[in-house]
Amino acid sequence: MIVGTCYSEPGALDTSLVDIPDWTEEELKEIQTQSPLAFPLSLPDERDQQRMQKSWRRHQLERYLQRWDGAYVPEVPEAFWGRSWRACDVGCGLGLFSLRESERNPEHAFLGIDKGTRRGSRMVRRFKETGRDNLFGLHGNAIPILAAMPNHSLDLLTLFYPNPWWPSKHRKKRWSYHPLISKMVDLLKPGGEILLCSNEGFYLQEWLYAMTHHPVAFSALEESYVGPVTVSLEEARSHFESKFLQGGTPCGEIRFRKKIER
Ligand SMILES: C[S@@+](CC[C@H](N)C(=O)[O-])C[C@H]1O[C@@H](n2cnc3c(N)ncnc32)[C@H](O)[C@@H]1O
Repeated sequence: MIVGTCYSEPGALDTSLVDIPDWTEEELKEIQTQSPLAFPLSLPDERDQQRMQKSWRRHQLERYLQRWDGAYVPEVPEAFWGRSWRACDVGCGLGLFSLRESERNPEHAFLGIDKGTRRGSRMVRRFKETGRDNLFGLHGNAIPILAAMPNHSLDLLTLFYPNPWWPSKHRKKRWSYHPLISKMVDLLKPGGEILLCSNEGFYLQEWLYAMTHHPVAFSALEESYVGPVTVSLEEARSHFESKFLQGGTPCGEIRFRKKIER
């Protein structure tokens, strides 16, 4: 049963699969935090609130998705839908969360998606090497993959340490501004959770604002946890999380749950 920040009881793990020995120089560099964290989170400044509201008003997911017309988009394996409890980790990197949790929860299905050239292919290879029939990896852009999934199909959607897209000219690529927000909410089953972690204060402020003000998110979701990441280094859920915890970088976590209609 997956509850709170501790997703399952710690148990004996095949550590060779979660221990990634072949980090690149780039990946081993210390990650800079530009806007340190403080809880409770403040609101984004007025202008950024207005910018988010403006992009949500303009969202047209179908139109946005046209950029993938004719492109290859990997399909979610049929067997993923064969399990009744399903999690999807978006931008999963090397896939630590799905690797570990699929071992601990053999009856649940875990899908990791990453578009990175190196991370995506290494993740898919590692997932295959486990031989597990509840672990699925896709190397590709998560946006058209999620957009094609049926609504009310996920119990957990995780976004661990997404790229903050610091320069303001890139803000529309941040998840809080993204036309996929409504679909992410629609994908959750009643009671399902969406979890985002970051080391950047501004990114968490914007995501919290989106979860509480975006018209679809605001009406469908309720807060389950907003605060510091409390997992231990041994229980780090992603490789970025383990790097941050090792370096003593504070990280935060925002979890919202889909309301159960009564
Ligand atoms: C900062 S890394 C974090 C990786 C991992 N979640 C972790 O915490 O270790 C961000 C990852 O998101 C992936 N990514 C960003 N946008 C994506 C998208 N639209 N679809 C799939 N992967 C994406 C990148 O390739 C990169 O591996």
